[in-house]
Amino acid sequence: MTPGDGAGKKSTELPIRADLVGRSPYGAPQLDVPVRLNTNENPFDPSPELVSELSRVISQVGANLNRYPDREAKLLRADLASYLATESQVKVTAENIWPANGSNEVMQQLLQLFGGPDKKLVTFDPTYSMYEDYCRNTFTKYETVSRKPDYEIDLQVIDQALALQPDIIVLTSPNNPTGTVVGQSEIEYLLENFPGVVIIDEAYAEFRAIGTPSAIANLKKHPLLIVTRTMSKAFSYAGARIGYAIADPKVIDAMQLVRLPYHLSTLTQEAARVALRFSAELLSQVDLIRTQRDELTKWLTDSGFEVATSGANFLLFGTFSDRNLIWEKLVEQGVLIRQTGPAGWLRVSIGTPAENSLFKSALLKVTSNE
Ligand SMILES: Cc1ncc(COP(=O)(O)O)c(C=O)c1O
Repeated sequence: MTPGDGAGKKSTELPIRADLVGRSPYGAPQLDVPVRLNTNENPFDPSPELVSELSRVISQVGANLNRYPDREAKLLRADLASYLATESQVKVTAENIWPANGSNEVMQQLLQLFGGPDKKLVTFDPTYSMYEDYCRNTFTKYETVSRKPDYEIDLQVIDQALALQPDIIVLTSPNNPTGTVVGQSEIEYLLENFPGVVIIDEAYAEFRAIGTPSAIANLKKHPLLIVTRTMSKAFSYAGARIGYAIADPKVIDAMQLVRLPYHLSTLTQEAARVALRFSAELLSQVDLIRTQRDELTKWLTDSGFEVATSGANFLLFGTFSDRNLIWEKLVEQGVLIRQTGPAGWLRVSIGTPAENSLFKSALLKVTSNE
């Protein structure tokens, strides 16, 4: 064939993987509005003291950026272990911890390790939409069972998950987008009755009610349990991108098979260590966020909305015949929340007291003639 007869003509489509054709990337709108309550960030900025310590540390390590980072992030792992000893009263060591660029990366690594074309992951709907994407990226089969109408998970729901014969079960507690906390006896039932890999996503764990144990307490008895955490929420550190897995050292060792070389930059490791030194200060806002959450729950309920019981830093509320319209009208008022979860529901992250007041007045305004 000669050039020009059409045979060598370039297709306008990229030759990408067939299962990715037509898919949209994950992402909440990043709009520049005064009140941003859509991605469950912590509304409080890190303090000037933290920022100045960060600058000091970065100028120190900056001089060595010609070298690759510590591939095993040993110092950060040790610091995370001491943080957990205080936060969850569970003794773990650096060997139990694996950090990465956000718990998103941790989860993807876990599925690269435990998932694959012959494996099935089961989780409980409605839940965090990224699990399906991690499965797609690792060719793992994805199935869900429904939570109860109040979004709780009881033993029957767990039995339904077990009946699907999964290889991996993901349980999110507190759950996104509902805020639901799974009871300790349900977690124990699952761990006792399922021989496979259990991933408990505790991205919002620091917001749980005081006295509620973390699933980390079950690690000793269950070597295939992996708990994931993040510094993006309670720590006010979403921009730094740090998440971590807590698991048996054997699991952590195996994760090295799939991590990219030097996946966590020196800057990220050091930024995380600075935040951990300020953890008491950073986490002191968690109480205020909890109180604000409970106040907002009451206000929404008193104003006639339905609200899911939340142990996180956000609330799922509704219901609206046209949630998109309410969302758009709120944006017009300068308030950005999230359209996610079951039809008719919206999710709002807890902001500062001032932001929460602006949200309340905007919501009343846009729903006054609903
Ligand atoms: C349940 C849950 N898990 C994990 C993440 C990912 O957090 P990150 O990658 O910022 O650590 C999120 C983020 O919103 C989440 O809601």
